[in-house]
Amino acid sequence: MATSFEEAKVTVPAVLDSKGERKLTMLTAYDCTMAKLADRAGVDMLLVGDSLAMVVQGNENTLGVTMDEMIYHTRMVARGADRALVVGDMPFLSYQVSPVDAVANAGRMIKEGGAACVKLEGGINMAETVARLVDVDIPVIGHIGLTPQSVHRMGGHKVQGRKGGDGPGARERLLQDAAALQDAGAFAIVIEGVPAELGATITDAIDVPTIGIGAGPDTDGQVLVCNDVLGLEDRFVPKFVKRYAELGKIAENAIVSYVDEVRGEVFPGPEHCFSAPRAVGNRKRAAS
Ligand code: KIV
Repeated sequence: MATSFEEAKVTVPAVLDSKGERKLTMLTAYDCTMAKLADRAGVDMLLVGDSLAMVVQGNENTLGVTMDEMIYHTRMVARGADRALVVGDMPFLSYQVSPVDAVANAGRMIKEGGAACVKLEGGINMAETVARLVDVDIPVIGHIGLTPQSVHRMGGHKVQGRKGGDGPGARERLLQDAAALQDAGAFAIVIEGVPAELGATITDAIDVPTIGIGAGPDTDGQVLVCNDVLGLEDRFVPKFVKRYAELGKIAENAIVSYVDEVRGEVFPGPEHCFSAPRAVGNRKRAAS
């Protein structure tokens, strides 16, 4: 009996074949625990995003995270992924300097990190690099629109391709970027922070799946940051994020209970001890 897409291990060809057949789900993960949860929940692709520079490391933008740090987190995620395709995000300046650098660093993401493919930001300007990676059998996902590694050029994390927004031709440039990535061999393209109608237009214009984040409902799949989906963050939450739970509040309340119980000599109770503890009163006197 043939295994369904939902059951089988997700591969690069399976992602390519999904266009027009089913919606793809991608979620970021930065460690083994989150990878296992998302994998069990049926997420198709786990992106070890360079967003970890902000979400895990607490930086203001994604620029500072290093190749070694990305590999460290990718290795953890790969250990937790059973079905999902693991995507290693290429950090700032790990691929822009030269295609040779890009091959060496993306190769490390596969060999040392255990990723099945890499993602990198850019369009026409990265087409040669994408082609070189694909040529040595490193599958690539492109990323266009609001590309966080271009934060200084964009003057912030701003929506791209708005009609009359980013100067004449911005929308056409994004369409050309998507086409150039596809022609270079990218097997999927993340589209971030563009008007919904442009997300749909780009999706219709190319044959490889698009995965949107803040790009409307008509892309071939969606990606979100796991900490946003789970409501773990206090920081600014963009309009395109849907918080499916408020785990941050639940976690904080749990920790408050722990602190209270330790201070009130409620925890650890007899059930947490290897032999019978002294009575509570004795413990208080012994401490004073
Ligand atoms: O780094 C990241 O998490 C990303 C996604 C938001 C697409 O690039």
